[in-house]
Amino acid sequence: MADQNLDNSKGQFQSRFGFLMASIGSAVGLGNLWAFPYKMGKNGGFAFLLIYLLMFATVGVVMMLTELSFGRKTGKGVIYAWKTLSNKYTFIGFLGWLSPLLILGFYCMLGGYCLKYSIANLGDIFGAGWGVHGTDSAQFFTAFYSSQSQSVIFTIIFTALTVGIVLGGVSGGIEKFSSIAMPALFFMLVIVIIRSVTLPGAGAGLAFVFKPNFAVFKGVGWITVMASAGSQLFFSLSLAMGIMITFGSYMKKDDDIQQSSVIIPVADTLIAVMAAMATMPAVFAKGLEPGQGPGMLFVTLQYVFAEMGKAGPIFGFIFYALVFIAAITSSISLVEAVGASLMDREIAHGQKAHRTKATLIVALIITIEGILISLDGLGAHGILHIFGQGTALDVFDLCSEGIMMPLGAFLTAVVFGWFTPNYLDDDIEQSGYKFKMKKYWHFCMKWIVPIVMGLVLVGQIDTFFGLGIFS
Ligand code: PFF
Repeated sequence: MADQNLDNSKGQFQSRFGFLMASIGSAVGLGNLWAFPYKMGKNGGFAFLLIYLLMFATVGVVMMLTELSFGRKTGKGVIYAWKTLSNKYTFIGFLGWLSPLLILGFYCMLGGYCLKYSIANLGDIFGAGWGVHGTDSAQFFTAFYSSQSQSVIFTIIFTALTVGIVLGGVSGGIEKFSSIAMPALFFMLVIVIIRSVTLPGAGAGLAFVFKPNFAVFKGVGWITVMASAGSQLFFSLSLAMGIMITFGSYMKKDDDIQQSSVIIPVADTLIAVMAAMATMPAVFAKGLEPGQGPGMLFVTLQYVFAEMGKAGPIFGFIFYALVFIAAITSSISLVEAVGASLMDREIAHGQKAHRTKATLIVALIITIEGILISLDGLGAHGILHIFGQGTALDVFDLCSEGIMMPLGAFLTAVVFGWFTPNYLDDDIEQSGYKFKMKKYWHFCMKWIVPIVMGLVLVGQIDTFFGLGIFS
């Protein structure tokens, strides 16, 4: 059964705290710390936050409940959970299996960037030659990502660490580790926020995020913002990727699944908003561009650390090391979920599940992806610029976050909202729990999620291919 892929975490899932930490450790990652602030910067600040929070309540929480409960009821990983419901739905499971496989390549590259930045800040603590040592943050970043050898090396190190941890079966230890690292990250974010908001000129950044501004709602631009916020929500909450289905399959029958479906998204969103509060004031204080894109985590926050004088490299080192840990706890769960379905397949064919073989197959695929994406150097070298995209990273992001995930979520809502609307009721209501959000859940699954996801899908296709339908 799917349990075999997380052999070592089984014990923890006996405790509710362990389950929550594992899920939050998977959910909190680069999506919160790297993607959320830069996507917000590109999409009008407050408008993005508002749309994100609305979708959080109407789509995020209900989809979280759906996936956890679907996993718990079937006891399977993503492909076989869908197959259990009906053979004709197996392809939806396949979409949810392929997305993380496509994401892992660039996820490992960005995880490698965090490692590089931790090491560079460590170098600065000792005044070593391999530090940032006063180089302009933007120049330092450009020099790093456009160096193919450095990029490939750090990507491979990150991938090897992820795979090594999964193969070594020490994921259980990592969960314990992340129950220290996650609160540490929280406190570190608080410190960075304090430094960032006290920089001269930082107020404009806070206003950008929190001051009501409805300009984007005057035309159809809000659909573009919605598309970006919608796919970000799924990425950040680890939804439509089989992760929460897999985690649900390890949940105890008497767990309060409704409560977990609220706690996980709330914790995840809190960290994302905090990351924006750490970044945006610094962007404005430094006269940078809020729409600067994927370099934000590395360029802007490095400026903030530079402003901290001698203590800067120490904070920089701790901060990037924690982001690195948040990234690796997420990438581990991605590799495990993809591998789980490969093992489910062996079991379904009456064979013994081979954990090592499954993990190595996943490792090989993501290493090839990671190398290709790193060689492109965020667009600097023109490698794999297909489907009209300017970077190889965007190509993989388009296929996964842009198309497969919203499509998978749309189909999930159609199946559970329309075709089998009461399939999950008995799972949610077991052990004497009342399905408190029943009416709300049914309404959202039937109407809101399919409509919102349909719009997100169209909006993403429009943005990615530059069709200009909504601009
Ligand atoms: N949710 C993680 C993040 O925000 O970085 C990324 C992620 C982890 C996505 C695990 C998917 C997943 F299965």
